[in-house]
Amino acid sequence: MEQLGPDPNRPYPMADQRRVVFIKNFVKSPKIIVGDYSYYDDPVDPEGFERNVLYNYESDRLIIGKFCAIATGVKFIMNGANHKLDGISTYPFPIFGHGWETAMDKLIDLPSRGDTMIGNDVWIGYESLIMPGVKIGDGAIVAARSVVVKDVPAYTIVGGNPAGIIKQRFSDAEIAQLLMIRWWDWEIDKITRNINLIMEGDIEALHNAS
Ligand SMILES: CC(C)(COP(=O)(O)OP(=O)(O)OC[C@H]1O[C@@H](n2cnc3c(N)ncnc32)[C@H](O)[C@@H]1OP(=O)(O)O)[C@@H](O)C(=O)NCCC(=O)NCCS
Repeated sequence: MEQLGPDPNRPYPMADQRRVVFIKNFVKSPKIIVGDYSYYDDPVDPEGFERNVLYNYESDRLIIGKFCAIATGVKFIMNGANHKLDGISTYPFPIFGHGWETAMDKLIDLPSRGDTMIGNDVWIGYESLIMPGVKIGDGAIVAARSVVVKDVPAYTIVGGNPAGIIKQRFSDAEIAQLLMIRWWDWEIDKITRNINLIMEGDIEALHNAS
């Protein structure tokens, strides 16, 4: 019987469920950084998580923390998706050559919103779309089929298109305390000892955990 939880370096953490993968074991791009235990669930192609990181041609990175749950079909649009917005036409003429490459300098300085950052213990619902540069705080929830266009505060539920705040999961004071506790950074044996407290709602008890 394992005492320390699943090994985060195991690609398939559930012996009888190949639809669930610990993402970091399937990521090849150095621009996608995923913390331990964050998983992707997909009944068809869980190994293909990286294909859901779209237009990943620029230098921006997708950074996902630890213990995130990412549902089937969640997609991340990266900054490489952008066309120039400040000209009359957004059509990328130069990429087709045949004389149009003379305007190649018009394709530099594409708009960028920087890295996409997903915190720790974030649950992203089925087929949601995360737009470039969005920062999602620790403990947040993204409702199914949302389009997240703005940053999401920690421990907040957002939903819809564009995703708006549905509710805050705890009071401001409780969220501040949770962000000090940062249970996801504990040693794994401390996490294992305190699984029940982490899954219950008593923040003071979690604070006092040893
Ligand atoms: C976000 C979610 C957790 C909310 O659950 P909840 O706290 O029980 O919320 P409720 O069902 O009471 O809904 C609260 C409000 O959010 C809205 N809402 C719920 N899901 C929504 C969605 N996907 N998009 C937009 N709004 C949504 C409801 O309409 C309701 O709005 P109202 O307050 O104006 O009436 C849940 O709806 C959800 O999307 N879960 C993700 C499921 C999933 O994708 N699982 C994948 C496998 S892990």
